Amino acid sequence: MAEEIRHPFLHGLSKHRGAPPTVVVIFGASGDLTARKLIPAIYNLAHDGLLPADFHLIGFGRKAIPDAEFQKIAAEAIKEFSRREPSPEVWARLAARTLYVSGGYDEKPAYDRLGARITGLEKETGQQLQALFYVSTPPTVFAPIIQNLGASGLAARYLRQARQSKVIIEKPFGRDLASAQALNRELTTVFAEEQVFRIDHYLGKETVQDLLVQRFGNAIFEPVWNRNFIDHVQITVAEQVGVEARAGYYEQSGCLRDMIQNHTMQLLALTAMEPPVSMDAESVRDEKVKVLKAIHPLRLNADARPRDYARAQYTAGVIGGRPVKGYLEEQDVSPASATETFAALRLSINNWRWQGVPFYLRSGKHLARRVSEIAIRFKRAPGSLFADTDRSILAANTLAFQIQPDEGLSLVLNAKIPGLETRTQPVKMNFKYATTFGSNTPEAYERLVLDAMIGDGTLFIRGDETERSWQLCSPVLAHWAEQGRKGLDTYASGSWGPKSAEELLAANGHSWREP
Ligand code: BG6
Repeated sequence: MAEEIRHPFLHGLSKHRGAPPTVVVIFGASGDLTARKLIPAIYNLAHDGLLPADFHLIGFGRKAIPDAEFQKIAAEAIKEFSRREPSPEVWARLAARTLYVSGGYDEKPAYDRLGARITGLEKETGQQLQALFYVSTPPTVFAPIIQNLGASGLAARYLRQARQSKVIIEKPFGRDLASAQALNRELTTVFAEEQVFRIDHYLGKETVQDLLVQRFGNAIFEPVWNRNFIDHVQITVAEQVGVEARAGYYEQSGCLRDMIQNHTMQLLALTAMEPPVSMDAESVRDEKVKVLKAIHPLRLNADARPRDYARAQYTAGVIGGRPVKGYLEEQDVSPASATETFAALRLSINNWRWQGVPFYLRSGKHLARRVSEIAIRFKRAPGSLFADTDRSILAANTLAFQIQPDEGLSLVLNAKIPGLETRTQPVKMNFKYATTFGSNTPEAYERLVLDAMIGDGTLFIRGDETERSWQLCSPVLAHWAEQGRKGLDTYASGSWGPKSAEELLAANGHSWREP
């Protein structure tokens, strides 16, 4: 019981993964992400006993509301979006440590008030608190927030000590190379790189972390993980939803910025990187940067092939039996919009491991199903001992990491059909997370908020990493902006994407696998 009082939240985590006493400050406290993801994530960390004994949450926003009102908003968010039923006891403990500070993001005195509130908490509890600033606002106010965290001295609290301040920056991290570089400069004038946690929530997904365990924890994969055995790689991040209520944002973004530059490129980096010397943040990120650096610039030829991309917009169609509108008919979308809702890239990696192995990436909204997967297509078995005929089918072996939903791993092999002659058929070996481990796995944001509190940047993006990814995507975006609607393909909602994406693979004798 005494242990319970000293550590009201801390149980069930290995000792070295404990965070010091912390105050998390969320900028953009009334935003959608805060309600849907951040507050439920913090609640579930509390529920699982993973928060430090002295944990406090401060919402910061423009609206002036009392603490009690923010606690009510937080409680409602948990009720609506938490992955598990809220427990009144856990919430009561957290609610008592949930506060609110109001002020303009560019208003220095507001940051002084925030600082005073944090020091007040330190006095009350007799503890030095690490401050973790979570910037979850529209990107237009990233710069004033960072500058004011610097000017108010909040960024430099306990600098170079374990409890030094940390900052999490939500996406979008820039909209092209120049703006990402500018944001990195802004950040590094105020913070040291090890204080900065650039988030990509895909890295917090269990299955994405499992990719590293599968690749480097099993001796059977590494010997075949190269150009001698692998024919090509397909990475799909497909969504069934359209732009919904986010057209205002999406019109300025598009699929390449929204999904490919960050999430899909991260999946590629983890699939293609060399084994790191250890799992610490720098070793892992060094390898990711190295592989991103080895990717050839894309061929952009406007009128002639080869070109390394496809881009398209969804038109009206049917999803889940219901008719849906085309992108141009969506609310807040310009009828002349050239924003792509689907993008596919063909990337070549210029190194010893991957030379000659195409990596195909695709992502889109209003596709047939919500599914993210990484499919490794191996070369076909040589010779013709078991000929591929109309009675015998020999498939290329495919190892597929099912990122979501239906998380797992599958391997396509060829087997003999039982019978008195030798006929073959592809069969599938399946590992399902839910069957082995149960289905109530933590949300990505739980892991990421906890890691940032601990100061572990392994699952966050380093400054040079995001810039390298933009270096590849920026010329494509500039080219598309110049082309406007010229060459913009379409696809019916509910399909697997445009014809041009099929052609991108067909040019190399490949085709997309249906996930
Ligand atoms: C976000 C994008 O980063 O990721 C959204 O802005 C997208 O457009 C979302 O819907 C997809 O995330 P998840 O975790 O649902 O695959």
